[in-house]
Amino acid sequence: MSTFEHLSCPLDATPLSLNKRSLICARGHTYDLAKTGYINLLPVQNKRSKDPGDSKEMVAARQAFLNQQHYFPIVDQIVKSWPQDNMPSQARIRVLDAGCGEGYYLSQIGKAFSNQKGALERLGLDISKWAVTAASKRDKDVTWIVGSNASLPMPSDRVDVVLCLFGFPVFSEFARVLSKSGLLLLVESGADHLIELRKILYPSIHDYKPTHADGVPHFELVSESTANYSFTLPSQADIQQLLAMTPHIHKASYEGREAVKLLQSITLTADVKLRWYRKTTQETNHV
Ligand SMILES: C[S@@+](CC[C@H](N)C(=O)[O-])C[C@H]1O[C@@H](n2cnc3c(N)ncnc32)[C@H](O)[C@@H]1O
Ligand SMILES: [Zn+2]
Repeated sequence: MSTFEHLSCPLDATPLSLNKRSLICARGHTYDLAKTGYINLLPVQNKRSKDPGDSKEMVAARQAFLNQQHYFPIVDQIVKSWPQDNMPSQARIRVLDAGCGEGYYLSQIGKAFSNQKGALERLGLDISKWAVTAASKRDKDVTWIVGSNASLPMPSDRVDVVLCLFGFPVFSEFARVLSKSGLLLLVESGADHLIELRKILYPSIHDYKPTHADGVPHFELVSESTANYSFTLPSQADIQQLLAMTPHIHKASYEGREAVKLLQSITLTADVKLRWYRKTTQETNHV
C-alpha cells in the first residue's frame, strides 16, 4: 500500500496525492518520484546549504559499516524494548524514522516485525539526498523522503511512532505529527560508546553529559534501556570506515588521527541508550 497519501506539500501544507510518478498538492505544486522511488520534499528555500546532511562519502561508509551487522544488537534492543501496547497486532502501525540515514534500522525493524499479525507501515525521512537514495535501493517496502525534521512534510496526527536514532530531534514537530499518545524513541550514544577509539583520538575525554536529563518538551519518559556490548574491527580499512561515519573524523586532532592509522584491529565498546517517550500534549500548529 502506498503511504504517499500521508504526506503534505512542504510549501503550503496541503495534502499530496499520487498521480502516475508525481505527487501533486491542491495548489498544483508537483514533486516527481526519483528513479529509485523516493520523493524529494525539501524545497530549495528550506535548504541551509546546497547539499545538506551527510555527504555521499559518509553515507557510503555508514552503509558499509552497518551492513557488517556490528550494530545489530541495537536493532535487537529496539525491538525488545518496543512498548507492548504498541506492538503490531491487527492494525497497521505507522512508523516514521526521522533522520533515517541510509535506512539500515528501518529496514531491519521491518524484518523483525514481518511475522507479526499486523505490520508496520514505514516512512523514512532524511535531509541528505545521498542517504535517501541509498535507503531507497535498500528496501522497496518503505516510503523514503528527502525532507527536514525542522518542518516535516506531513499533516498533524499522522503517525503512531517516531524513531530518532543518532539524529537531530525537533520535539515540537515530532509531537505534531504523532497521534494522541503516540510514541517517540530516542537512541543516543552513552558515556562509553567507542571509548577505546575516542581515547586514541583525543588527548582527554570530557566528562559525559547526559542529554535530556530534565526530560523533553511535549513527551513523558516511558522506559529507558541500554545496549552495551563489544565488537571487533579486524582491519585498518574497517576502522577508517567507522571513523568516516562519525563526527570524530572532523573533531579529532591530527595526532589522534595519525595514531589511529597505525592500528591493525581494535575491539570497541558499543554503549547506546534507548529512551521511549509518550506524547503528552497536542501540538497542532504547522511549522
Ligand atoms: C548520525 S546520522 C544517523 C543516521 C541513521 N539514523 C543511523 O543511525 O544510521 C544523522 C543523520 O541525520 C541527518 N540529518 C541531519 N539534519 C537533519 C534534519 N534537519 N532533518 C532530517 N535529517 C537530518 C543526516 O543527513 C544523517 O543521515
Ligand atoms: Zn503546494
